Amino acid sequence: DWNMGTFIEKEVARIREFVGPTARVLGAISGGVDSSVAAKLMHQAIGDRFHAVMVDNGVLRAGEAKQVDEMLNKHLGVNVTIVDASDLFLSRLEGVEDPEQKRKIIGNTFINVFEAQAAKLEKQAEEEEAEAKRLGSQHQPKGKYEFLLQGTLYPDVIESISFKGPSATIKTHHNVGGLLADMKLKLIEPLRELFKDEVRELGKLLGIPAHLVGRHPFPGPGLAIRILGPVTRSQVAILQAADSIYIEEIRKGGFYDQISQAFAVLLPVRAVGVQGDKRTYDQVIALRAAQTTDFMTATWFNFPHDFLSNLSNRITNEVTGINRVVMDISSKPPATIEVS
Ligand code: XMP
Repeated sequence: DWNMGTFIEKEVARIREFVGPTARVLGAISGGVDSSVAAKLMHQAIGDRFHAVMVDNGVLRAGEAKQVDEMLNKHLGVNVTIVDASDLFLSRLEGVEDPEQKRKIIGNTFINVFEAQAAKLEKQAEEEEAEAKRLGSQHQPKGKYEFLLQGTLYPDVIESISFKGPSATIKTHHNVGGLLADMKLKLIEPLRELFKDEVRELGKLLGIPAHLVGRHPFPGPGLAIRILGPVTRSQVAILQAADSIYIEEIRKGGFYDQISQAFAVLLPVRAVGVQGDKRTYDQVIALRAAQTTDFMTATWFNFPHDFLSNLSNRITNEVTGINRVVMDISSKPPATIEVS
C-alpha cells in the first residue's frame, strides 16, 4: 500500500544501494520545492556525502540566497555552497532585451558556474580522500562525485517527451538535467514518479516547513524574464522590492495558497506622476496572479479592491522609481504566465 512514509523508507534504501558505500552526490539547488525536497531526501540517505550548490545569478528574489542557506544548511543540515556569480551573470546580460536570449545566456552561464564549482568540490573530495587514507583505517574514506541529483517530477518527464520538436518550443525552459547531460555524472531522480502535491506531502514528512513546501514555482531565468528590456542591478533592485511587498501582502491577506503563482513585473515604459509636490517620470509595475492546475492553461486571480488599493499605495510609496501599479488580467492562452 502506497503512502509517503513507506516511500521515504524505500527511496532511502534505493538511493543507498544505487550510490554505494563511498561515492558522493552533487546537486543544484534553486530554493524551490522540488530541489529542496530532493536534497533533504538525499541527505537522509547519505548524509554529508551529498553536497548541493546554489548559484546566485543576480536575478533571484530579495534575500533568496540567504533564505536557502538558513533553511537547508542551518535548519535541515544539508551541505549547501552558495556561489555568488551575480557579477558574471549581469555582465553577460548587459544590454540584452530579447527574452529568449536572456534565457540562453542564463542557462549557459549557469552551466559554466556549476561546472567550475563541481571541479572545486571534486578537487576538495580527492584531497580529503587522500588525507583519510594517510590517516589510516579509522577514518572512513568518502569517494568521488559520481552522481548528480535532479528534482525531476513526473510531469517534467512527460513534458520533455511530448515537447521534443523545435516547433513546439514556446519558450526555452532551462532544465538543468538536459543541460548538464555532458557531465560525466550519473543522474539520480528520486522524485521522477511523483506529482507536485505528493512532493509537498513528502517535504512535510521530511521536516521542511509548510511555507517552503507550499511555495509558488519560480523560473530558472528568474527576475530577468520579469524585467522587460535590459537587466541592470538597479532594475533588479526595483523589481525585488515591489515583488517582496506583493508576496508579503498576499501572505498577510491569506491568498497565497489560493494562487498558483504570483509575481511582479517591471515594464519598460515610463509614465508621468506626481509625488509630494514633485513631478515624476518613473516606471510601471504590473502584478500577475495565476490560478492553474497544470500550468498549461491559467486564469487570473480576482483580488478584493481594498487589497489592491492598499498594495498599490505601498508599492508606490515604498519603491523608489515606481509611480504606477497595474494589474495583468490576461489568461493563458492567449498570454503565458511569465511575461517574457
Ligand atoms: P509560462 O510562462 O510558459 O510558464 O506560462 C509556465 C510555468 O513554467 C515556468 N517557466 C519557467 N520555469 N525556466 C523555468 O524553470 C523557464 O525558463 C521558465 N519559463 C516559464 C513559469 O514560471 C510557470 O510556472
